[in-house]
Amino acid sequence: MRKTSPDVLPAEGGLGNEPLLALEDLHVEFGTRAGIVRAVNGVSYTLDSGETLAVLGESGSGKSVTAQAIMGILDMPPARIPKGEIRFRGTDLLKLSEEARTQVRGQRIAMIFQDALSALNPVFTVGWQISEMFRVHRGMSKRDGMAKAVELMDKVRIPAARQRLNDYPHQFSGGMRQRIMIAMAIALDPEVLIADEPTTALDVTVQAQIMELLAELQRESNMGMILITHDLGVVADVADKIAVMYGGRIVENALVHDIYKAPAHPYTKGLLESIPRVDLKGQELYAIKGLPPNLLDMPPGCAFHPRCPYRQDNCVTDVPPLYEISGTRNSACHYWREVLDGDNR
Ligand SMILES: Nc1ncnc2c1ncn2[C@@H]1O[C@H](COP(=O)(O)OP(=O)(O)OP(=O)(O)O)[C@@H](O)[C@H]1O
Ligand SMILES: [Mg+2]
Repeated sequence: MRKTSPDVLPAEGGLGNEPLLALEDLHVEFGTRAGIVRAVNGVSYTLDSGETLAVLGESGSGKSVTAQAIMGILDMPPARIPKGEIRFRGTDLLKLSEEARTQVRGQRIAMIFQDALSALNPVFTVGWQISEMFRVHRGMSKRDGMAKAVELMDKVRIPAARQRLNDYPHQFSGGMRQRIMIAMAIALDPEVLIADEPTTALDVTVQAQIMELLAELQRESNMGMILITHDLGVVADVADKIAVMYGGRIVENALVHDIYKAPAHPYTKGLLESIPRVDLKGQELYAIKGLPPNLLDMPPGCAFHPRCPYRQDNCVTDVPPLYEISGTRNSACHYWREVLDGDNR
């Protein structure tokens, strides 16, 4: 059982200059039969109200585990958080009791998942599931809850919301199911919305519509949003800043327009070069060579060195710190200057 005091919930309006959300040196590991999997190795970032942070990285880089730690939905054990803080309006969520944490989860920090079909309950109507948020957390009657559900379904632009209230999840298309999950996530006006690959399962046109909807809802409510994706293509229009993860660490963080202008880490550069471009039809699509690191057996020095075209001898031995390039930018590459200068390898 986790620590139970002090048990003061984060202030609604926020405390002084504390960011809405601040991760500080977060570590998450899993005890497995094969050994300790260090999934998150010292992640720090901040998020303010109205801001969108895109968290980017290949499969297995620790994006979802970080999000699950923020939500408090990791199974502990096998998960363990040996170190770090997750401050929400100045209060470390990791020090709250489970009861206080429940007040935050889903209500003040909400999350939408990649796969709406498995996140929604197949045996209840969508109206029932959305209205449950209001019955359980706001003590509303069934009737008032249903009225709220219609309101929300309208808001996320589900056509003929009132008529569809009593339909089941499988009766909706993938895009519409994702809208239902978004409706549930925003039902209680969360201050932080975490979207974990919300559009990966959808086709490109629907992806764009869902991203547009999220951006619009955010503008209206001023929530802070964490958008997890492995697709740099979708973040350009919606995100303010980007954190790039590799092997459970942040290897670069930057404002979106800076990163598109010139990446400061070879891994980010590789990701950017793997985006399909309509203006370069016929060109072979670049893919970063090699495989993501094995978290049970991380390479010494920089975890990216086996795949890195900029590698020098010290990359194999010295773990690069997160060098500060400017007030809004960091790179965990000993040779960030060369990368930033566009010195092509
Ligand atoms: N319950 C668990 N037990 C052991 N290892 C786990 C567990 N959950 C996650 N991991 C490991 O932690 C690492 C990070 O996983 P995570 O789900 O955060 O990756 P991700 O960046 O979200 O990738 P993806 O893009 O595939 O969703 C992976 O290597 C994964 O295998
Ligand atoms: Mg994931």
